[in-house]
Amino acid sequence: MTNLFRLFAYLRKFASFMSFALIFLAISVVLNLTQPKLIEWAIDSGITAGIVRNLVVGGVGIFLLGIVGNLANLVSGYLFIRSGQGMAHELRGSMFRKVVSFSFINFDKWRTGELMVRLNSDVNTVRMFVRMGLFMIAQSVVMIIGSVIFMFHTDVRLASIMALLMGGTLAFSITIVSFLRPLFLKMRAKLDDLNNTLQENLAGAKVVRAFNRQSFEKEKFELKNRGFYMMAVKIGYFFSIVLPFMLFIGNFAITLILWVGGTEIIQNYHAGTTGFTLGQLIAFNNYAMMAIFPLIMLGMVLNFISMASASAERIFQVLKEKPGISMPENPVLPEKIRGKIEFDGISFGYGEGEDAVQDVNLTIAPGEKIGIIGGTGSGKSSLASLIPRLYDPRKGIIRIDGVDIREYNPIELRKKIGIVLQDPILFSGGIRQNILYGNPEGGESVAEWAAGIAQAMPFIDEKGWDSSIGERGTHLSGGQRQRVAIARALASKPAILILDDVTSSLDLETERNVTKGIYEKLDGMTVLIISQKIQTIKMSDRIIVMDKGRISGIGTHDTLIQDNEIYRKIAETQDEFIH
Ligand SMILES: Nc1ncnc2c1ncn2[C@@H]1O[C@H](COP(=O)(O)OP(=O)(O)O)[C@@H](O)[C@H]1O
Ligand SMILES: [Mg+2]
Repeated sequence: MTNLFRLFAYLRKFASFMSFALIFLAISVVLNLTQPKLIEWAIDSGITAGIVRNLVVGGVGIFLLGIVGNLANLVSGYLFIRSGQGMAHELRGSMFRKVVSFSFINFDKWRTGELMVRLNSDVNTVRMFVRMGLFMIAQSVVMIIGSVIFMFHTDVRLASIMALLMGGTLAFSITIVSFLRPLFLKMRAKLDDLNNTLQENLAGAKVVRAFNRQSFEKEKFELKNRGFYMMAVKIGYFFSIVLPFMLFIGNFAITLILWVGGTEIIQNYHAGTTGFTLGQLIAFNNYAMMAIFPLIMLGMVLNFISMASASAERIFQVLKEKPGISMPENPVLPEKIRGKIEFDGISFGYGEGEDAVQDVNLTIAPGEKIGIIGGTGSGKSSLASLIPRLYDPRKGIIRIDGVDIREYNPIELRKKIGIVLQDPILFSGGIRQNILYGNPEGGESVAEWAAGIAQAMPFIDEKGWDSSIGERGTHLSGGQRQRVAIARALASKPAILILDDVTSSLDLETERNVTKGIYEKLDGMTVLIISQKIQTIKMSDRIIVMDKGRISGIGTHDTLIQDNEIYRKIAETQDEFIH
């Protein structure tokens, strides 16, 4: 519930819309409420008294009130829609900005499908709540209070009976709602699950087919699909009780009013006394309907409240997510980075897991070309990811140019560090657009320079700079994707370049040319090349051998072959390097 109130912060911008919406709504309700009184007057002083003029005046009055009242209702509805859509727009924007600010740690926690449901479906639910829910609540409450006042004004005894009935109905609605809220939360979680499965399946569509796992995936999806369906049916069951029950209460009320009010009129008629009139009975009946039906609506709206508060909770969970990387209070702007990197007693692990990197002490000189080698899972990628603060270490300090990297503005820091991840993700669009992704102003010369070093020119010449590369770059081969990704990192002209096993799909000659270009043409740029292959890193100024998260040796190719057991073993398996 508190989350629902926090939503109002997002409605603040639309406060004037909302106030006018409420004013117009009040006008429309008040005009509606005066109708039965006019009907009473038209019957008692027109029909019963036999005066045609009063009947005509009453009739025309009811008609005009109807027109004005409904116009006011229309304006109010429009303003509610504006506010609801406006709030949804703000919420989606805030959530997206939040997700963009997520670091790797946050993404390790959140699943894609789940975020998509929250940004789409949950935002829609709270929007509907503003549009329908608030509108209906305001309308119902004013309507109910107004009709109760008029009922008591018309006949106290009948009004008391109605008040009792209404109290019971409201209690029933509230009970149902308290049952429904947890169910709505569960249904949303099922929807998350369903979407995650779908999202993963679509993203991995080719793998699924390559392994002929369609039927397995179908079953997996069916399981989630059924889970969602069963939950929705359960909720539907509760929903289906509400309306008939409420309508029955309405019918019961009419019967009571006719019976109690009618017998009184008949008694008066036989006794020849005046008292409760036919006009009053009809007016009272109208008021009773005006009170009961909003009550039914209120029952439905209370469901809206439970749905919306469930969704609001899920929205604020995203908005409240703490960024995995803290922002320094007085960030240092890295102006010109020379590229000296120091690892000082670094240990790091994921979540609660064991250390993936342990006790690393290492100083890399500006412009130095470093190779990192080691078996899979030895912590190479983890170590590299610490430099641009994709993750923060558990222990120790990393300094760049002598400054603790936590003191830099992380966004500015990352602009100076080009990192190409193991699994390069490209965006749909042209090759040029992808290469200039981090440096859109770079222009032709930068794109060509970067593509040249990355050995991407041969296939770019063939395909053209602006040919579409498909979603996530699927129209390119693995090796071509890797080269575009390398060029993309180079095009930002970083001070530090990190290549994480990104030459694995290249043929030997292309790979040799890429590394040669990087080592020879990037004077002054600090470069870390991670690879499982000795030939890729052989020419490095220094090679770091990683083993089980620790540095097992540092040296050149020649010294490591001499005195590092692990390095020698790797070299032996890649036999062309045995002299
Ligand atoms: N995002 C992650 N969450 C949890 N554990 C991870 C994650 N990434 C890597 N690991 C674990 O950290 C260890 C080191 O992995 P990594 O640095 O990727 O090794 P390498 O790059 O040398 O193959 C491995 O045990 C791996 O399972
Ligand atoms: Mg790796």
